[in-house]
Amino acid sequence: MQVDTLILGAGAAGMMCAAHCTGSTLVIDHARAPGEKVRISGGGRCNFTNIHTEPENFLSANPHFCKSALGRYSPWEFVALVEAHGIKWHEKTLGQLFCDVTAKDIVAMLRAEMTRAGADLWLQTQLSEISHDGSAFRASVTRDGKTHEVRARNLVLATGGKSIPKMGATGLAYDIARQFGLAVTTTRAGLVPFTFPEGRFAELSGTALPCRATAGGASFDEAMLFTHRGLSGPAMLQVSSYWSEGHPITVDLDPEGSLFETLREQRATSGRHKLTTELARHFPARLVAALPQQTGLPLAGNLADQSDTALSHLVDSLRNWQMTPGGTEGYRTAEVTLGGIDTDGITSKTLEARDVPGLYVIGEAIDVTGWLGGYNFQWAWASGVAAGRAI
Ligand code: FDA
Repeated sequence: MQVDTLILGAGAAGMMCAAHCTGSTLVIDHARAPGEKVRISGGGRCNFTNIHTEPENFLSANPHFCKSALGRYSPWEFVALVEAHGIKWHEKTLGQLFCDVTAKDIVAMLRAEMTRAGADLWLQTQLSEISHDGSAFRASVTRDGKTHEVRARNLVLATGGKSIPKMGATGLAYDIARQFGLAVTTTRAGLVPFTFPEGRFAELSGTALPCRATAGGASFDEAMLFTHRGLSGPAMLQVSSYWSEGHPITVDLDPEGSLFETLREQRATSGRHKLTTELARHFPARLVAALPQQTGLPLAGNLADQSDTALSHLVDSLRNWQMTPGGTEGYRTAEVTLGGIDTDGITSKTLEARDVPGLYVIGEAIDVTGWLGGYNFQWAWASGVAAGRAI
């Protein structure tokens, strides 16, 4: 069969691209359903964009690359689409927009937009071979046990990254990119929990608290969570994208910087209170109980026993708690893949390969990775729209 555009991957970017392509479009995916990551995202409510999206919220070897596509498709344009489909939404925190009811509404919306644009969708379809015959791409695909030859002027790589292989993630886009001469930068798991030696935080598992986490020069003020395997929660997921193996992460448990003065004031009025009792007013009691073992801080005596120097040392330690993870949970649980198809070989305005006319790369497959908080979907939408409009 012959189509104008063949899109590999019916995820967030592929579906959005299909909704904006003119001409005949076929989208293929090996999964049983389209947009599976959209469906499970945001705890089933899909954090579909972030209204504060800026290029600074993305990691890439070329931090300028994402500007063009993001600049031409704003979060508010996606919100307008969501509203046109009658989907109710709310802002949760930090500009993060979620569906009121279910992420399935976003999948249905994308599916409806694809249909409106006249795009076909073949699910449970495997690609076995792809080549270019000098005038068009030729794909050999298998569906329902039958092999089809698809000829397409344009080929869009939208099969995402390697995160969560159990959900069908593969490195297909990277393999095809290399086949057509595009470079692929080193990939690794991002937005992923840290692991520590067995039992390190066993007694703290389930404890959550606000903090400022720092790694690789980036800091995030969000919640952290101790788990039986290590550290998770938004603050940890965010810094995991900046962390490199063997380096410590720094946790500031007093990001507002008011603890020292508060403890001094309390010492003046309630000197007979135990230091641990006072600390438990600011931090979870389980953490206070574990701090001596975790940090080496003695935490003995009453408030009145603490000199300014002792209080200052205590607060400094709580503001500069360094921990070196053994690693991360890897692609098994990572929300995204850092690195990917090198942006050097791609035109930022259209997402078309510079040296392979008709070959487009969108979404997570490219070396553009957003922070936690709706940024990755905004990149998927914006890059999908940019390529779709160019096609
Ligand atoms: P995506 O992964 O969406 O789609 C790729 C498609 O290609 C899939 O349908 C897959 O089946 C298909 N495919 C892969 N290999 C194939 C092959 N060999 N043959 C055929 N088809 C193939 N982001 C955000 O902004 N807000 C959020 O709330 C969340 N939440 C979230 C939760 C969880 C658990 C995860 C894992 C991820 C998130 N994300 C997120 C990240 C977000 O899901 C991700 O960045 C986008 O889905 C990327 O869109 P793509 O279209 O590039 O890939």
